Amino acid sequence: MIPYEVILKKRNGEKLSKEEIEFMVMGYVKGEIPDYQMAAFLMAIYFRHMDEEERAILTEIMARSGDMIDLSEIGEKIVDKHSSGGVGDKTTLVVAPLVASVGVPIAKMSGRALGHTGGTIDKLESIPGFKTSLSLEEFINNVKKYGIAIAGQTANLAPADKKIYALRDATATVDEISLIASSIMSKKLAGGADAFVLDVKAGSGAFMKTIKDAKELAKAMVGIGKAHGKDTVALITNMEEPLGIYVGNSLEVLEAIEFLKGNYDEKFYELCIEISSYMVKLSGKMDEKEAKTALVENLKSGKALEKFRDLVRAQGGDERVVDDPWKYLPISSETTEIKSERSGYVKDIDTEKVGIASILLGAGRVNKEDTIDPSVGIKVLKKIGDKVEKGEPIAIIYTSKKSRVDEAVEMIKEAYVITEEPVEKLPMIHEVVT
Ligand code: URA
Repeated sequence: MIPYEVILKKRNGEKLSKEEIEFMVMGYVKGEIPDYQMAAFLMAIYFRHMDEEERAILTEIMARSGDMIDLSEIGEKIVDKHSSGGVGDKTTLVVAPLVASVGVPIAKMSGRALGHTGGTIDKLESIPGFKTSLSLEEFINNVKKYGIAIAGQTANLAPADKKIYALRDATATVDEISLIASSIMSKKLAGGADAFVLDVKAGSGAFMKTIKDAKELAKAMVGIGKAHGKDTVALITNMEEPLGIYVGNSLEVLEAIEFLKGNYDEKFYELCIEISSYMVKLSGKMDEKEAKTALVENLKSGKALEKFRDLVRAQGGDERVVDDPWKYLPISSETTEIKSERSGYVKDIDTEKVGIASILLGAGRVNKEDTIDPSVGIKVLKKIGDKVEKGEPIAIIYTSKKSRVDEAVEMIKEAYVITEEPVEKLPMIHEVVT
């Protein structure tokens, strides 16, 4: 076999065999296939796509290119959750302790910021002292002892995906359904969970801009999960506006803590309860109705907040953040209000632009080597459908010396579309794919 014939076959829209996919992926990982041939292969997939069987094979090969984590020692069904990425998406910070509080263990490997979207690991690292790199032994021990652990992916988790993703990023081949689905699911499979709840975002702040594309991605991922014998459910959720109130690392941790204290944005609450209920249901411990009742109860009683405290303490973080997040999280005291230039109703928010503005402030990385500034971010005061008066603040930005403030302000202003006619608020959850 030579790379040329596999590239040609996919370029012509034919189905590839397991041997052919393995030959390309593993050849690339080993350095036997050069970037230019892999790039051509990815572009062929971009235009010709893969069917369900090819995707399942690609996922498995990428998963098996590195460590396959064995969580069986925990002795319980492990349910993982994954978001396809959004702006202000701190769902894991709420859902993980909430689900763990009802006795469903959380053993979660999370990622860092990708493109204009944030990453759970970067957010957790804004808690002073919080350790996200755990040995497998520490990770499993924490799950056994506290019922919860969230760590960064080990260096050797799906290394084929890592190498291929970097090439996709540089060759405009990220946003293809088979490639995204297999990229995400390869890391999930290697992470060792038994079942998955997937939060597939749709809208201007997501990788999938339309509900139709998000649904296709959801179906692809559910198909891959099932092909590997894992219960998988996907929710198609709204990313036409930032999720919740804050965007930025410490600010999102603060929002999660406030949520667990009972102070939450209603739509974000709906999302968290729905995802948590599916996770508990897939664990097999309760049906959906019982799960919802238990989750709401634990939120009200403060048990979920105490589970968050366990997580922070177990991973070396300063647990005083739980009691007084404004004091103990690094949050910038320098703020700038962005005011509306007209009266009306918020019709649209280009959420990708809000994500990019947060990167300009320092909340994300412009280059791979950049360090994140946990103290900066955005408070989103007006959402789609909200009424706004001329001169009224629509957002507040938290800045630092290094922030590119003027650019960020302009970007947020550009992101808002305000019209005279009233606008309906958007639903949080569009659909569930099982
Ligand atoms: N997230 C991933 O992990 N991979 C993709 O391809 C896109 C989003």
